Formats: sequence, C-alpha cells, structure tokens
Amino acid sequence: MKITFIGAGNMAEAIVSGIVKQQVVAASNVCLTDISEERLEYLSQKYGVETSLNNPSAVADADVVVLAVKPQIFPSVWPEIAEAIKPDALVISVMAGVPSATIAGGKTIRIVRVMPNTPALIGKGAAGIAAGELATEADLQLAEKLMSAVGIAVRVKEEELHAVTAVSGSSPAYVFYLLENMLAAADQMGMEKGIARELALATVIGAAELMKESGEEADALRNKVTSKGGTTAAAINTMIDRGVGESIIAAMKACAARSRELANG
Ligand SMILES: NC(=O)c1ccc[n+]([C@@H]2O[C@H](COP(=O)([O-])OP(=O)(O)OC[C@H]3O[C@@H](n4cnc5c(N)ncnc54)[C@H](OP(=O)(O)O)[C@@H]3O)[C@@H](O)[C@H]2O)c1
Repeated sequence: MKITFIGAGNMAEAIVSGIVKQQVVAASNVCLTDISEERLEYLSQKYGVETSLNNPSAVADADVVVLAVKPQIFPSVWPEIAEAIKPDALVISVMAGVPSATIAGGKTIRIVRVMPNTPALIGKGAAGIAAGELATEADLQLAEKLMSAVGIAVRVKEEELHAVTAVSGSSPAYVFYLLENMLAAADQMGMEKGIARELALATVIGAAELMKESGEEADALRNKVTSKGGTTAAAINTMIDRGVGESIIAAMKACAARSRELANG
C-alpha cells in the first residue's frame, strides 16, 4: 500500500511518525508533499520517507491520499489532485470542517474523514473517524489502523464530527487553559514555578487515569474528594457560584457551532 500525505505539517508528521515506527506502512511506501523543501528534507532524514514538491505526481500512484493541509488551502490544491488520483484510491481527510460531499464534488471518490487532536504528536491522540457516502468497511478499518498508531480512534457519523471537534479535537486547548490558570494561581500564592508545574501536570494526568481505571463517573469521583465545609468544597463552590460548569458547556457548544459554520462555508 502506498500512502501520500498532502501537506507535511504537524498532524501529518504525527501520523507518519506513528505508522512508520509501528510498521503499519513501510517508510518507503510513504510520501509527503509540502511547499517547503526544508521541511521535506527534515522529514525525509528523520523518517526515511519519500517526499515531493509536486502534489499531482505524488498522488498518481498512491492507494491512499491523506489530505493534511489547512482547510483554507484545500480549494487551491484539490483540483490538481482530484484529476491525478487513481480512480480506486481512498481519500482520508484530517481537515477540520470540510464535508466529504464538498471534497467529492460529485465525483465517485471514497472518502473517510478523521478529526484528530494534538496529543497524537506523542502517540496519545483521540480521533473520531467518519465514513463519507461511498467509503466501505475496509476503508474505515484502514483509517482506524492508521490512527490507532497515534492514539485511540473511534467511529462516529460524519454529522457527529462537529461534536467530536468540541469533545476531543479542540479540547486539548481547554485543558491547557485550565493548567494555565492553575499555574497562575500557584504563582500568585508564591509557589516555585517548576514545582507547581510538576504537581499540576501529575494531578491532571492522575485524575484522568483514575477516572479511566475506576470506571466511575466524574461527579462521583468529585464528590468523593469534596467533604462538606472542607478545602475542596471551598474551591468547587467558588466555581459553581461563578458558573464555570455553564461556561464549559457554552464553550463547547460554540466550538461545535463554529465547526458547522465552517462546514457550510
Ligand atoms: N493540529 C490540530 O490540532 C488539528 C486537529 C484536528 C484537525 N487538524 C487538521 O489537520 C490539518 C493540518 O493541520 P496542521 O496543524 O498539521 O497544519 P500545518 O502544520 O499548517 O500543516 C499544513 C502543511 O501544509 C503545507 N502546505 C501549504 N500549502 C500546501 C500545498 N499547496 N501543497 C502541499 N502542502 C502545503 C503547509 O506549509 P506552510 O506552513 O509553509 O504553509 C504546512 O506545512 C488541518 O486541515 C487541520 O484542520 C489539525
């Protein structure tokens, strides 16, 4: 199987790194294209993959074409690629918000859409995978296999990718925002930066792993550490009074709404 990535940015590198290291695809069967020769040189040296500055020739013999350019670049690169891809090639798009019907443009192209997230860079990603109209079970399995090399992959309906964007695609930023403010508070309380960072990071990772391993719900675990009149209650009550929970729900709805807006052009 020959696989060509159009756009050799962060997400393409994350996926390529995973699939080459785990030998899902041989490096010699992976090709990356980009507009930066320097970037391609770096990736070729690091992963032993093929590279090209020419999108149409790079897709001509590919069995799988991964669209990994920014959505705003898509309209300018797609016409030249669509003409050149093999009729039976599978197209996998990691582009946020571009519907499979827009990519297909009325042509009979098999498309699978993937919504990844940045922890894929360290093999701990969470991706939603959705079949376009003509994609087969085998296509979904292949996309799952590729994305499983950089984290977990779950199947959803294409319409659900807007919610996936809110739940996992954009959500690393919410966690960073939480950490940013936890560390700002620690600083205001006079704590040494390095120690605060170490404690806060271990806590976020530990709390997530506790929830995963125990199988318990978030509110049950929260209640267990919140005794009436205690220190945790003082913190949680402040958050409740200030509407932090409602803000998170509103933020995620805004994220999904923006995803819909982008999809509708
Ligand atoms: N990063 C995320 O968290 C995330 C999450 C979910 C989905 N995605 C999706 O993943 C896709 C890639 O994101 P990214 O973060 O990897 O972006 P990125 O780092 O900007 O990667 C895109 C790459 O494509 C290159 N490029 C621009 N024009 C090109 C052309 N005509 N032909 C070939 N390559 C071209 C860019 O070069 P220049 O930089 O020189 O322009 C850049 O290296 C996006 O569609 C995004 O929506 C990303």
